[in-house]
Amino acid sequence: ALPVRPRLLCHAMTSIELPGHPHIAYRHNELFVEDVRVSDLAQAHGTPLFVYSTASMREALAAYQRGFAGRKLHICYAMKANSSLAMLQFFARQGCGFDIVSGGELERVLAAGGDPAKVIFSGVGKTRAEMRQALQAGILCFNVESEAELEVLSEVATEAGQTAPVSIRVNPNVDPKTHPYISTGLKGNKFGVAHERTLATYQRAAALPGLRVVGIDFHIGSQITEATPYLDATDRLLDLVEAIEAAGIPIHHIDFGGGLGINYNGDTPPAADALWQQLLAKIDARGFGDRQFMIEPGRSLVGNAGLCVTEVLYLKPGEEKNFCIVDAAMNDLPRPAMYQAFHAIVPLQARTGMTAPLYDVVGPVCESGDWIGQDRSLAVQPGDRLAVLSAGAYCMSMSSNYNTRGRAAEILVDGASAHVIRTRETAQDTFRQEKLLP
Ligand code: LLP
Repeated sequence: ALPVRPRLLCHAMTSIELPGHPHIAYRHNELFVEDVRVSDLAQAHGTPLFVYSTASMREALAAYQRGFAGRKLHICYAMKANSSLAMLQFFARQGCGFDIVSGGELERVLAAGGDPAKVIFSGVGKTRAEMRQALQAGILCFNVESEAELEVLSEVATEAGQTAPVSIRVNPNVDPKTHPYISTGLKGNKFGVAHERTLATYQRAAALPGLRVVGIDFHIGSQITEATPYLDATDRLLDLVEAIEAAGIPIHHIDFGGGLGINYNGDTPPAADALWQQLLAKIDARGFGDRQFMIEPGRSLVGNAGLCVTEVLYLKPGEEKNFCIVDAAMNDLPRPAMYQAFHAIVPLQARTGMTAPLYDVVGPVCESGDWIGQDRSLAVQPGDRLAVLSAGAYCMSMSSNYNTRGRAAEILVDGASAHVIRTRETAQDTFRQEKLLP
């Protein structure tokens, strides 16, 4: 079982762990990631700076492996969560495959030394060129999202003289009870094939040239914090497997997608091992326990393994709001602006004997939506550094160059070592592809 973490866990009063953020802790009032002092990294590499813990990722992965112990499981890391090459390399070395959603992501997998034979390709808008590229690379499976896509994939594979392994993504019409922008398994979402159309779609897939049915999949949403949506979706998926196999089409693997949430702000998602023990009990009871299983976790593997260090530039007290202006912005940390998402913000060095007014923590970008946290009580001075927590997933991978801000640097910590896995982007880097008029 996972260790139980009380709200603050003290080791001889010198180390204070942050609940839900394994391997990120204060030692003598200074924030550490594993055995590396974060302020040393900020000093050496500047800010904004992403810092990730290898140990935290390893533990998150191990929770899934424990949950599926003794089963046939293939974990495809949903690389959209964080697709930096060294992160992919880490997961490849742990034996993982990858869930990709573009030809670009496939190129990243190959550049990181990942095995294309462990790659599954999701997404509602695969182009013919991407299909050809993936066929040529020899991926494990196409997760097909519509009947129209199936027809095109059949054509592309036939033209290439190849056979495309396919799984059909089912939209089980289950409410994942998450933010509407990251809910994907409801009838009104663009994703997957409607439950009622699934059997007919499999029959079409079995009849079309150039395709080989290998599996079935769903992915109902992201930042899911309850087991019920998974249990409901699984029941509905297994009903379909029964119907499809009764129609004479064998289903080799069952893919349950990703979506398990993390603790951003006191959220209490089930632990991966506990969730899967519960789900596998249901799957066993229905007689599917010995199947080949696949999962596509993203956020739950990397989200709480990362933080973003930022420096306080100015304090700007006001009548209605106090602003704490920092050097990270919505281009580095887009989730608050996009989803009103909460990220905890903590100082790198805890100050004592200072008042802690409420601040809106905002970036330098010229938009009122450029905020990182609202109404945060902080004891800070200009020049202090803050850590924005839960920044391992959907931050760097969603970052942009808006306001011609170069992307931040990234560090992967492993014990006492800190590896630079991305250097800071310069302004020249951001306009390298651009051309002046003659
Ligand atoms: N599989 C498929 C087909 C997906 O679309 C996704 C995520 C995943 C797996 C991984 O889901 P995860 O385990 O990470 O929840 N940018 C948003 C999240 C978008 C998720 C998109 N799909 C955010 O920052 O919250």
